[in-house]
Amino acid sequence: MSNILQVNNLTRQFKSGSKDLTVVDHISFSIQEGTSCAIVGPSGSGKTTLLGLCAGLDRPTSGNVVLNGIDIAPLSEDERATVRNEHVGFVFQSFQLVPTLTAIENVMVPLELRGQATKEVRKRALSLLEEVGLGDRHHHYPTQLSGGEQQRVAIARAFINEPKILFADEPTGNLDTETGTHIESLIFNLNQQEGTTLVLVTHDLELASRCERIIRLKNGKVDSDTKTSEEIKETVA
Ligand SMILES: Nc1ncnc2c1ncn2[C@@H]1O[C@H](COP(=O)(O)OP(=O)(O)O)[C@@H](O)[C@H]1O
Ligand SMILES: [Mg+2]
Repeated sequence: MSNILQVNNLTRQFKSGSKDLTVVDHISFSIQEGTSCAIVGPSGSGKTTLLGLCAGLDRPTSGNVVLNGIDIAPLSEDERATVRNEHVGFVFQSFQLVPTLTAIENVMVPLELRGQATKEVRKRALSLLEEVGLGDRHHHYPTQLSGGEQQRVAIARAFINEPKILFADEPTGNLDTETGTHIESLIFNLNQQEGTTLVLVTHDLELASRCERIIRLKNGKVDSDTKTSEEIKETVA
């Protein structure tokens, strides 16, 4: 199997007054196509920053990210947007829906960017909204939806371009247990049926234990990188 994601000596610093704050500190790992991986660690350990770098939303201070065979670090913003649109689904911790678009229009955005705003796409967007339990809310704007509902719209949007790799930051964090379990099965179905690689940031150890691998971050470094054995799954369950 080939690596869909390769992270080499990745570092991201932010200026904090006169000091440099190293949030992602020389991280290296690779992820095989079709697998699932959870990224866990305490709040502030760099999980969201790392995910953004892997998905090409942000640029590293040094090191590189090879996504589906393409080294994305040197690419321009427009070039990275094209790579994301073709290969990547992303569910943000803060949803990032377009406030002036309805739920269904938000779901259609990735394909509209490809110039594919057809009736077919609208149909598919509606069926994705139905799958996340929001078929009857498709004409609502983000402000008319609860946090959990916005999260579900964001998940439908991440699925519409049939991504090779799905990055999700706390995908079930804003959902009640029942909805969370349903979204979890949708995500893992995508992995099993379409072979979509999953990279999930989560606090939920039960969700993490469903992944084949758990990378634990601490202070911007990889603290542990383990295969989720049946034994660990049993302990968590
Ligand atoms: N744009 C930024 N500018 C300055 N500091 C940032 C920025 N983004 C994140 N940080 C800092 O980096 C650290 C890690 O943040 P983050 O990646 O969001 O952690 P996590 O997702 O694990 O909670 C935090 O201390 C945060 O304040
Ligand atoms: Mg975070």
